[in-house]
Amino acid sequence: ETNEIILAIETSCDETAVAVVQGGRKLLSNVVATQMDIHEKYGGVVPEIASRHHIEQMTVVMEQALDEASLTVDDLDAVAVTEGPGLVGALLIGVNAAKAIAFANDLPLIGVHHIAGHIYANRLMQEFEFPLLSLVVSGGHTELIYMKQHGDYEVIGETRDDAAGEAYDKVAKALNLPYPGGPVLDKLAQEGEDLYQFPRAWLEDGSYDFSFSGLKTAVINKLNQMKQKGENYRVEDIAASFQASVIEVLTEKTFKATNDLGVKQLIVAGGVSANKGLREALHQKFDNRDIDLMIPPLYLCTDNAAMIGATASIHYHQGEFKDLSLNANPGLML
Ligand code: KG4
Ligand code: ZN
Repeated sequence: ETNEIILAIETSCDETAVAVVQGGRKLLSNVVATQMDIHEKYGGVVPEIASRHHIEQMTVVMEQALDEASLTVDDLDAVAVTEGPGLVGALLIGVNAAKAIAFANDLPLIGVHHIAGHIYANRLMQEFEFPLLSLVVSGGHTELIYMKQHGDYEVIGETRDDAAGEAYDKVAKALNLPYPGGPVLDKLAQEGEDLYQFPRAWLEDGSYDFSFSGLKTAVINKLNQMKQKGENYRVEDIAASFQASVIEVLTEKTFKATNDLGVKQLIVAGGVSANKGLREALHQKFDNRDIDLMIPPLYLCTDNAAMIGATASIHYHQGEFKDLSLNANPGLML
């Protein structure tokens, strides 16, 4: 079956998501039930609460995904699920749901890596051309990944401390802004100026690694200092200054890597790829160049199951299936 129909499930964090994807590239349905409003009260994702909501939402979301695709389980060729990384209790709900459907309907089962998923979200928009480089920027990951072929991931750079999204969330918290901090800071940054010139973490010459915890500390120190001195400041300018540092480092290191490696495509992936400033900076840097820049539409940037279905198609064609001993793996490596 080359146009296989896969039901995909994603529950690694705070979105209960189910999608139906055909042939790895055609989205038949994509349902996301977010819990963001619930976790906002606590200023971050509370794992116990996330698991409980995944259990409550799973059947509803799954039925909706099949409904919207006008399909029943009888039409499916496989079931796929995020096996890691993520919150173990949250992952388990998706993994158990996938196993139950696979067992009850005698369907092949596919385990997908969450970050591979973010990368493959782009393939729902455009076919991949190798070699390619992917910049993955999410709440848990900041990585530059080199790919010579489907399913082959070489991490050439990664964060040594905080992930980019994590830095956004922590700086937002220091500014008493709601969770998740990324979208809020992004919006504020549009109305501010890079007044503070926070440090840029270039690390050693030639390194593709990242570091954002020093920047986070610099922002917090500056805030405390200004509060102590009773100085006035605009949150917009803090946001713009923080964002300018993040974007400059991400863009420059990515640009250098694409040149060094001579890739055909640059694929941007993960929640932070929704960032307006980052999207603009990348377009400025890569448009009119001999390299194809792919950034997913907003609905495919943050966690969803469409990306899991897109990745699962590769496993399906490579004959990589799991048996019912499949378990959630919070520390799963690419
Ligand atoms: O990929 P994702 O939905 O979940 C993970 O796998 O981590 O990414 C969530 C992260 C959060 O840290 C959130 O603050 C950040 O992505 N984010 C953004 C924006 N939208 C979401 N960061 C900066 N600017 C945005 N517009
Ligand atoms: Zn994610």
